[in-house]
Amino acid sequence: MESVKKILITGGAGFIGSHVVRRFVQQYPAYHIVNLDALTYAGNLENISDIENKPNYTFVKGDITDPDFINALFADHHFDGVIHLAAESHVDRSITDPMSFVKTNVIGTVNLLHAAKTAWANNAEGKRFYHISTDEVYGSLGQTGLFTETTPYDPNSPYSASKAGSDHFVRAYGETYGLPYVITNCSNNYGPNHFPEKFIPLLINNIIENKALPVYGDGKYTRDWLFVKDHAAAIDLVFHEGKNHETYNIGGFNEWQNIDLVKLLCAKMDAKLGREAGASEKLITYVKDRPGHDLRYAIDASKINSELGWKPSVTFEEGLELTIDWYLQNEAWLKNVTSGDYKNYYDKQYH
Ligand code: NAD
Ligand code: DAU
Repeated sequence: MESVKKILITGGAGFIGSHVVRRFVQQYPAYHIVNLDALTYAGNLENISDIENKPNYTFVKGDITDPDFINALFADHHFDGVIHLAAESHVDRSITDPMSFVKTNVIGTVNLLHAAKTAWANNAEGKRFYHISTDEVYGSLGQTGLFTETTPYDPNSPYSASKAGSDHFVRAYGETYGLPYVITNCSNNYGPNHFPEKFIPLLINNIIENKALPVYGDGKYTRDWLFVKDHAAAIDLVFHEGKNHETYNIGGFNEWQNIDLVKLLCAKMDAKLGREAGASEKLITYVKDRPGHDLRYAIDASKINSELGWKPSVTFEEGLELTIDWYLQNEAWLKNVTSGDYKNYYDKQYH
């Protein structure tokens, strides 16, 4: 991949995308990074305001569901690589509005694949289409076992079905048209800039505001948490060193039952906020379960570890510390993203 010079990153104003864009802009001054984002409710240019004036960076506002726009963008730019993160990403929203997930995650991805295939039709040497996907495509685990790269797809939510569909299209473009691609399926990320509709930042925000901490069902659901900067490092590695037409699973080796995670966060936040021990735990409120709620996700990340040498660089303790501190130091960011539409969403979701 030495010839790569101009890279399109989609969804770079979102949570994970902003960390990936920053990493590439800072680490690869010889590359030009084009960040394409529609700035939906989840996209926020404040996430990357520190790099907006860098000479090797361009932001383009646009929608991946618009094929004419995407084709024109590829004609203008001659991209050498695509790292595709733009998506509708929240499971609960997919339950109330599945069609927007089909549009962005499936149709949007196919628009990008089609444009890349057309642009690279005469010479795909050194080019790469990289799809950032999720472990949720594998469905749910029972109490034991791990998802590997050969676990059959078995998605349960409209979100995971749409990500499974987009993965299948990426693979199909590889098989049918020879498009050089790579896919990674990652576990739950957490860290700075995480939108507070998701569990960890929602809990942090509600603890700060002394609001109820909603735990779905019995709280025994299990997720495997990874610090977002470790995911960005894995993406960098796979983009440069991964093999074409391969899938790599990425995970944190870090499983937590939701209820234990809430209690851990409560204790840490009480200490940070100078509250009496046990104060925030009183806010825990069991609420109606998520329909189709997957019991457990856990990743076997041995392939990326043994083939590419990747492993998480921070422990969960360290990552949570960094995350909590970031939210406490960025109150304006939190206030900004939780005003307006967020309130409407929150009231509907947790009425
Ligand atoms: P996010 O919701 O924070 O950000 C998504 C970004 O995509 C936003 O900036 C949004 O404006 C943009 N976007 C949405 N629709 C668009 C469209 N039609 N055209 C252009 N841009 C559009 O999401 P995230 O949590 O950062 O996830 C990024 C990617 O990583 C997604 O593909 C997601 O499926 C995948 N992923 C996320 C996690 C996780 O834990 N968050 C784990 C594994 C994989
Ligand atoms: O596994 C990777 C996936 O992780 C990504 O593909 C998704 O984009 C990302 O949103 C995330 O999906 P989850 O559904 O696992 O994350 P969420 O933060 O929504 O929920 C985490 C767990 O916490 C899950 O078991 C549901 C539960 N939960 C969530 C919320 C928002 C609650 O108990 N209460 C809540 O209020």
